[in-house]
Amino acid sequence: MKRYFLVLLLAVSGNSLADGMLQRDCASCHNITGPVAQTLKKAFAKKGPDLSYAGNKYRQEWLVSWLQKPTRIRPAGMYYGDHIKPGAKSDEIDPATLKDHIAISNADAAAVAAELMKLKPHDDLIAKEKIEPGSIDKQMGEMNFDKFWGCMACHLIEPEYGGMSGPELYTVAKRLQPEFIASFIRNPQAWEPKTWMPNKGASSGSIQKFVQYFEVLGKESANAK
Ligand code: HEC
Ligand code: HEC
Repeated sequence: MKRYFLVLLLAVSGNSLADGMLQRDCASCHNITGPVAQTLKKAFAKKGPDLSYAGNKYRQEWLVSWLQKPTRIRPAGMYYGDHIKPGAKSDEIDPATLKDHIAISNADAAAVAAELMKLKPHDDLIAKEKIEPGSIDKQMGEMNFDKFWGCMACHLIEPEYGGMSGPELYTVAKRLQPEFIASFIRNPQAWEPKTWMPNKGASSGSIQKFVQYFEVLGKESANAK
C-alpha cells in the first residue's frame, strides 16, 4: 500500500514537473494551451510552431530524440522574410540571423514529450483519416509533389533542394503521425486558420500518395546517416 502510494506520488509530481518545464522554458516561444492563432497578426507574432495539438501531430519517439539534438526544420526560420539577404543569383538565407533551438537532457525530453503527447484537441480530424498500406516509386512521387501539385515551391525534399518557406519534408515521416500529415494536406486551415499553406483540394487518393512519398523520402534520409 505504502509503495503504491509512493509510485502514485512520483507519477503525479513527474507530470507537474514536465508541465512546469513547458511553462517555464517553452511557453515564451510556443503556444501550449491553445487556442491556435486566429488572426494574421497573432500568426505573424508566433516565435515558434504551435504545440497545443502536439499529441495529434508528433511521433513521441521523434520528440524525445529531437529535443535532445534539435536539427533545423524550417530552413528560413518561422518567417522566410526575416532571414533573407540578397545573394549573387537569388535571395539567400542569412544563417547568422537564425538561432539554434535549445537542447534538453534525455530525462527532461522524455518527460516533456510524454506531457506534450497528452495535448489532443483534434482527435475528430485525425479519426477521419485512414492510411492505406502501399508504396510509391520515388520518381513518380516527386513528379506528383513538384510538377503536378506545386508543393516544392515551399518545401525541401532534400537538405538543399526545394522551396524554403515551409518546413522541410524529407524527415516529415519520422517527425509526424501519418494521419496528421494526411489531415493537414486535406485542410491546413482546419489546424492553423491563418497558415499560408494552401488547401489544394487534393483527393484522398492523392493524399495517400503524398504520405507514401514522404515514407520513401524518410527511409532515404535514414540510410544516408
Ligand atoms: C527562443 C524560442 C524557443 C524556445 C524557448 C523553445 N522553442 Fe521550440 N521552437 C522554436 C522555433 C523557432 C522552432 C522552429 C525550429 C525549426 O523549424 O527549425 C521550434 C521548434 C520546436 C519543435 C518542432 C515543432 C515543429 O512542428 O516543427 C518542438 C517539438 C519544440 N520546438 C519544442 C520545444 C520545447 C519542448 C521547448 C522547451 C523545452 C522549446 N521548444 C523551447 C522556438 C523556441
Ligand atoms: C505557399 C507555400 C506552400 C505550399 C505551396 C505548400 N505548403 Fe505545405 N506547408 C507550408 C507551410 C508554411 C507549412 C507550415 C504550417 C504552418 O505552421 O503554418 C506547411 C506544412 C506542411 C506539412 C506539415 C509539416 C510540418 O512539419 O508541420 C505538410 C505535410 C505539407 N505542408 C505538405 C504539403 C503538400 C503535400 C503540398 C502540395 C499539395 C504543400 N505542402 C504545399 C507551405 C506550403
